[in-house]
Amino acid sequence: MQDSTTRPPYMRSSVAAVAPGGNPTYAPALPRRMRALHLNECPFPPSPKVVEAVREAAAKANRYPDAQARALAGALAARTGVDPAAIVFGTGSEELLNLTTLLALDPGDEVIASTPSFGRYMKSTQLAGGVPVRVKLQPDGRNDVKALVAAVTPRTRILYCALPNNPTGWINDRDEVEYLVTATPPGVLLAIDEAYFEYARHAGGPDVLAALKKRRGPWIVMRTFSKAYCLAGLRLGYALCSSPEVAGAIQRGRTAFNANALVQAAALAALEDEAHLKMVLDSCAAERDRLDAGLRRLGLAPMRTVTNFMSIPVPMKAASVVKGMEERGILIGAWAEGGRDDVIRISIGGPEDTDAVLAAMTEILAVAPRQPASAQRAPA
Ligand SMILES: Cc1ncc(COP(=O)(O)O)c(C=O)c1O
Repeated sequence: MQDSTTRPPYMRSSVAAVAPGGNPTYAPALPRRMRALHLNECPFPPSPKVVEAVREAAAKANRYPDAQARALAGALAARTGVDPAAIVFGTGSEELLNLTTLLALDPGDEVIASTPSFGRYMKSTQLAGGVPVRVKLQPDGRNDVKALVAAVTPRTRILYCALPNNPTGWINDRDEVEYLVTATPPGVLLAIDEAYFEYARHAGGPDVLAALKKRRGPWIVMRTFSKAYCLAGLRLGYALCSSPEVAGAIQRGRTAFNANALVQAAALAALEDEAHLKMVLDSCAAERDRLDAGLRRLGLAPMRTVTNFMSIPVPMKAASVVKGMEERGILIGAWAEGGRDDVIRISIGGPEDTDAVLAAMTEILAVAPRQPASAQRAPA
């Protein structure tokens, strides 16, 4: 950390101490057409009803949007049972995660999260001058709920938990979720990231919101329209909070019109088109099974997942597989934390994407030098 004599006037010390983040590759800007399987996007365009709603809203874009997004809050309240006054919107759920941390922490406060998990939890903690407390996952990639709760100290303000976790893709069962929500002390904000909620429920995952009824302390559940609703490019996330008071913190910190008019219209139309959502979820489940079976036939052991992505330990450096895939026109990811350099992450695409990944992986495994067998160990 730089001291006050050397730190620049435009950054406080905690901000200067954060490594500048690399921006994810934007596939359409690349010189050749690539399959984008690195950001866990939906391979399908949004519902035609959504596109029509956006078109209509665009014609009125000279007006500011509803700053409270009342119609959308009402629709989500009806679906979730959460008080509309306790629902807040953000420019993607990442903005909500960021704000939640920035608005809750004093310097030196602690934030607990699993590792590896979604990077924003700890990045926002560092920005706020907080102390990241990282807890290792279980070998199968689900959160270690006992260890997360055991990491709480008097300085803990927030416990983040992604259900299901990214990048592993696996989720805790109902008993473990109930343990997490009841054993996390009431003095801690329990922030549950359900970015892959629709996929997880479709795959039989637990009802986290129902479990939260048993919690005595404050909680926030973050969800997004970026994934199963195919709206990543429009940017909308929402936070379901345990009370209007909890929501009030984010309401104070957000900018007035952060949910724009086009995305409010799009999200309302997307919620109504249940057939489109079902098509997306069914397709994902089918391709996930096909990818898993194909990779197993190649001798790999993909991690179990209830999401639209899959993590796969490989018998070589993950970076060499990422490069090999890129040379074959496919963008994928690799784990960026958690001490492993031999796990790749691939988003589930459409049928042609699955075929292309399996063909490319067959070639890569045939030519690449292998690491010792330890590379196939379970994730840390
Ligand atoms: C676990 C998790 N949380 C949050 C996000 C952020 O999603 P968005 O900002 O698009 O809503 C992502 C995106 O990949 C994610 O994987």
